[in-house]
Amino acid sequence: MPHDGIIYLDHAATSWPKPPEVLEAIAYALGPAGGNPNRSAHRLALAAARLMLESRSTVASFFGVPDARDLLFVPGCTFGLNMALKGLLEPGDRAVVSSVEHNAVVRPLAVLEKAGVEVVRIPTDRSGRIDLDAAEALVAARPTKAVVCQHASNVTGAIQPIGDLADIAHDHGAILVVDGAQAAGHLKVDVTALGADVYVASGHKGLLGPQGIGVVYLAPVIEVRELVQGGSGGDSGSLTMPAARPDRYEAGTPPVPAIAGLGAAVEVLSREIDALVVQEQRLVQRLVAGLAAIDGVRVLGPAPGEERAPVASIVHASVEPDRLAYELDSRYGIAVRAGLHCAPAAHAAAGTLETGAVRFSIGRGVTEADVDLALEAVREVCSK
Ligand code: ALA
Repeated sequence: MPHDGIIYLDHAATSWPKPPEVLEAIAYALGPAGGNPNRSAHRLALAAARLMLESRSTVASFFGVPDARDLLFVPGCTFGLNMALKGLLEPGDRAVVSSVEHNAVVRPLAVLEKAGVEVVRIPTDRSGRIDLDAAEALVAARPTKAVVCQHASNVTGAIQPIGDLADIAHDHGAILVVDGAQAAGHLKVDVTALGADVYVASGHKGLLGPQGIGVVYLAPVIEVRELVQGGSGGDSGSLTMPAARPDRYEAGTPPVPAIAGLGAAVEVLSREIDALVVQEQRLVQRLVAGLAAIDGVRVLGPAPGEERAPVASIVHASVEPDRLAYELDSRYGIAVRAGLHCAPAAHAAAGTLETGAVRFSIGRGVTEADVDLALEAVREVCSK
């Protein structure tokens, strides 16, 4: 049902509203646990350190990570992807990447390409899924250091065959880096079962946490250079970062309120994830079927009935995306996102690079009534 008069269908940009437990955890981290963890040793600092340990352990279990020290806190998914790509790839290395990545992957790879990393792209089909045969041929063609792929698209909702891609990467000695920004919290993700060597996720989207926090799973055998150096709370006499995880990758005072908020969010999610995945899948299929039935509407990505993350982007024959999004917000209180969604590569593949699209994205709290109201509103705006 609408919250504060808003039907919020922009969960792929950031989830809203957050569970109340998240707000309580943030307040606790700024109050009774407001010290600097792993630095000072007084009660406020110890409480903060405990909060961090608990959050790390909650998030690690949620992702099926056996040793919580392999689950790193970073300022966001973009930071985590930059850290993984720049920490792995050197001039002369080769990376095989999907052709529909978000700019959080495309832009750091463009910088690396300029510096002498070879970057080759895996084509996709009409629904936005990568072509596995092409992926295998590209990875087999020349020694490849990393295979890089999103788990799900923020534009089309296409879910990529990560398990198969992991097999291809590992058969040829490559490391698989996965951008889980749009999958975490919307699909069940067990990083070890998936075969991801590096899995990066955003804290504030499907994981329901606050902004300013992301996570990186780094398989125990994978070595990545840290992106940032600084204080780590221990071994202060050394000029280099400690080798131990997570300290090596978490220089500087950590964002404890955001980490605590994320931990509280993932505790809620851990209880609800099975039911939530079923509910979101049901709603997105209802949404896609309804949108596809409206005159002049084209739904990007997988066809109605095919599996997708809970995201549906559309273009209309005559109503421009910006106008449709504006009308939905101003007349109906429906929040969606229009434009290129920071993913021009995905729009190029879908044929919408010039126009952009309007994206509806579903998350916790969205109901069937919300979906039906949104469909009715799109029908009205598009019929004028
Ligand atoms: N990458 C985010 C989105 O898809 C912000 O909207």
